[in-house]
Parts: sequence; C-alpha cells; structure tokens
Amino acid sequence: MSCSVILGAQWGDEGKGKIVDILTEQADVVARSSGGHNAGHTVVIKGEKYILHLIPSGAMHPEKLNIIGNGVVVDPKALIEEIVGLEKKGIDFTGRLFISKRAHVIMPYHGLIDRIREEIKGSKKIGTTGRGIGPTYADKAARNGIRVCDLYDKEVFREKLEQGVNEANFLLDKKYGSDEKINADDIYTEYLEYAERIRPYVKETTYLINELYDSGKKVMMEGAQGTLLDVDFGTYPFVTSSNSTAGGSCTGTGLSPNRINNVVGVMKAYTTRVGSGPFPTELFDEDGQRLRDVGHEYGATTGRPRRCGWLDLVAAKFACVVNGINYISLTKLDVLTGMKTIKACVGYKYKGETLDTFPPEIGALEGCEPIYKEFPGWEEDITKVSNYDDLPENAKKYLDYVKDFLGIKYNIVSVGTDREETMILEDVF
Ligand code: GDP
Ligand code: IMO
Ligand code: MG
Repeated sequence: MSCSVILGAQWGDEGKGKIVDILTEQADVVARSSGGHNAGHTVVIKGEKYILHLIPSGAMHPEKLNIIGNGVVVDPKALIEEIVGLEKKGIDFTGRLFISKRAHVIMPYHGLIDRIREEIKGSKKIGTTGRGIGPTYADKAARNGIRVCDLYDKEVFREKLEQGVNEANFLLDKKYGSDEKINADDIYTEYLEYAERIRPYVKETTYLINELYDSGKKVMMEGAQGTLLDVDFGTYPFVTSSNSTAGGSCTGTGLSPNRINNVVGVMKAYTTRVGSGPFPTELFDEDGQRLRDVGHEYGATTGRPRRCGWLDLVAAKFACVVNGINYISLTKLDVLTGMKTIKACVGYKYKGETLDTFPPEIGALEGCEPIYKEFPGWEEDITKVSNYDDLPENAKKYLDYVKDFLGIKYNIVSVGTDREETMILEDVF
C-alpha cells in the first residue's frame, strides 16, 4: 500500500511520460489527475515511440491499471482516437482503463472559444494548445460544465448542452464578434455516440482508487504540465487552467493527501518552455539552439519549437517547496554532453537586489537577470552509462551541486529517450 506522485518541476515536457513508464514496472495503478489532451507524454520502448495525451503513461505495461481521474478534462473524440491508435499498436484496454464519471467534458465550443480568445489577444496571447482546456475548466468553476456522467442521462445532457451552447453562441456573437455559430443538435448526436464508445471504461473512480490503495496496491499519480504552469503557482496568466502541482493529484483523483509517500519531481538538466510568458534563463544564442537541436525540443502535442535555456534552480527550488518534492528524476543529462561550459541559475538580480525566491509578479520575473554558477562540461558519450559512479566526474559535480542546492535525492537519472537509457537509483514505492 503506497502512493507516489510524479509531476513536472518546470514548465512541462520534462520527460514525465518516460519516467512514469519506467516506474510503472513497480506500481499497480497509474492515475492522471489534471489537464487534458494539451499534454503530450512520450514513451520510447526499444526504439518505438508512443505519445500519450489523455491515457496514463503506464498503458504500455499490459497488466497495469490506468485511471483518468475527475480532475482531467476529457475530449471524448481525442480520447477515442488515442485508444484506437494504441489498440492498433497492440495495446488492449479491456478491464484496465477507467474514466471518472466526474471528469468534465471538453465540448467543441470550448476549443473554438480557446482559439478565438487567443486570436483576439494578439501579441499578448498565452500560446495555448488550442484544445479548449481553459474554457472547459472555466465552465467547471462557473458550475456550467458537463461531466462524463451527464452524457448517460439524455435529458440532463440535452439541458446542459442547450445551456452551454446558448452561452457559447452569446459569447461568440456579442463578446468576440465572431460569425461562428454552434449547433446543439449536431453536438448532441455526436457526443451520444462518443458516450457509447467509451461506456465500457466509465466508472466512479473515486471509490476504485481508494479500494485499490486500501487493498495494498501501489498507486502512481501522473502529473501533466508542470509546476510553473499551475494556475495558482505558475507564471500566471501564462499558465494552464488546472492545478498541476501535488495538491492537484489529490483533488484530481479523490485519494487523500495522507496517502502520499513520495513526491517525485521530473526535471530536465536544463529548461524548456512552450508558449508565451517569462523565462528568466532563456537563451537566444547558439547554446539555446544547440539544446533545441540535440534535445529535439519540439512539442509532442503541437510540434512547436520549445524555448530553451539553462537550468533555473530558483524556479526548481520553488517547485520543491510547493510540491514537497523529495526525489528528482533528472532527465536529458545526455543533451548537455559536449558543451564546454554548463550554467545553472542560482539567484536573480532584480532592480539592484539579489533574489533567491521566485517572484509572483510577471513584471518582476521578466526583469530578473539570472545569476549563474558555471560548471565545466564533459565530452564522453553517457547514453550507455548504467551506473551513477561511471558518469564523467564533471557530470557528477553538476548533479551533486543541483542535489545539494535543492535538498533532494535522485531516484532516476535519465541519459536517453529509451527505457534502457535510465539509471534507477532509489525505489519510490
Ligand atoms: P512530458 O510531457 O513531461 O512527458 O515530456 P515530453 O514527452 O513532452 O518531452 C520529453 C522529450 O524528451 C521526449 O521526446 C522524450 O522522448 C525525451 N526524453 C526523455 N528523457 C530523455 C533523456 O534522458 N534524454 C533524451 N535525449 N531525451 C529524453
Ligand atoms: P505536458 O504534460 C508544455 C502550455 C501551453 C501554454 C499554456 C496554456 O506534455 O508537459 P493550455 O492549452 O493548457 O491552455 O495552454 O500551457 N502547456 C504545456 N506546455 N507541456 C505541456 O504538457 C503543456 N500543456 C500546456 O503551451 O503555454
Ligand atoms: Mg509533453
């Protein structure tokens, strides 16, 4: 009986998919608790690549259970496409995929409003994935949302849909001046079909996850996005619309905080970000381009080039504080191989003062100048190293400094995309 939370310690895309897949070996159940198909989690098994959006990254382990929790926003069309795509690759979900009845449903008008809002914002846009995530969570908070369970009561669904569509049409016409008009009849028919297709997986997962935990199973919570994209703790408003921090894994599944044993932050050996918003250690020079090229830093969901920069330890420390991170899974160390000098930000200079905390004000973050500590690099190929002690001395010095700065232990150091290219150092279950 144990529970570990695995979450992003930066701005997303830290390699959560790879780490969750590796750790699923030791777990019995993997549960997604927040976000939607804005997430893109990559798993590479013997050279074959899987990109998961809504389905937990434990899916490739045939005997393990997968839960899509109540905190997730589900686009049923995207979900069905994902299930079908994975089934084609030989993955069977019978009896081992469960979707919460309480999860909110992304409707076509949510995507439309998301994209129109971004267009109107122009240069001030958030750079969302355009998947309707924000408007769906907004409807949830406004008590206007449609939940998975609502799809199975035709009267309830029709009534909620009419309300949602009327409001969306009002917004499109009166607020956004758009010519688009949503038709409730089309959506009604389409979504009832989706509901039938996903019916075998729909469940009251709150009891399920607690029963599994109580019966001695090992539960892993898979975070989406990252701490700095959290709606409360991230670089607001340049964030997503859910709690991607540790607390979100409890509210997003119904498993209580006193069940959690370990919180594992997944962190790249450097930093990336997709979309707009402050990024103090962003690089615009050849080092940044090198990180993008060598690290293949292009979005798994949208294909957008990721912004790249040095590791920001002030931001990472903030993530440790907010989430209670006790282990870090460090990824992409191999990408730093061949760099003459590696830098890590250990403080910010702002208006002549030194800051060692992550400021909430966007203006302050934008004005922060990183204070760097420099480390000599290494040349040796480390992708085949399977023992921590066999890493080049300079790599170990960098890792040791980061570990001490953050006051954590490493449970994993990852040196390549594949399952094989992983050093497992501690058991988190
Ligand atoms: P997630 O959203 O946190 O699951 O991360 P993504 O899958 O969006 O992006 C991480 C990318 O880095 C993927 O392409 C992974 O295959 C890749 N990756 C993960 N760990 C490593 C690593 O240690 N080294 C290298 N070179 N690539 C890695
Ligand atoms: P994973 O789980 C990286 C970013 C978007 C945008 C902001 C808001 O793969 O790490 P949204 O569509 O959520 O309203 O967009 O959040 N974003 C991500 N960036 N990885 C993700 O997920 C992301 N999910 C959302 O780029 O800046
Ligand atoms: Mg991703």
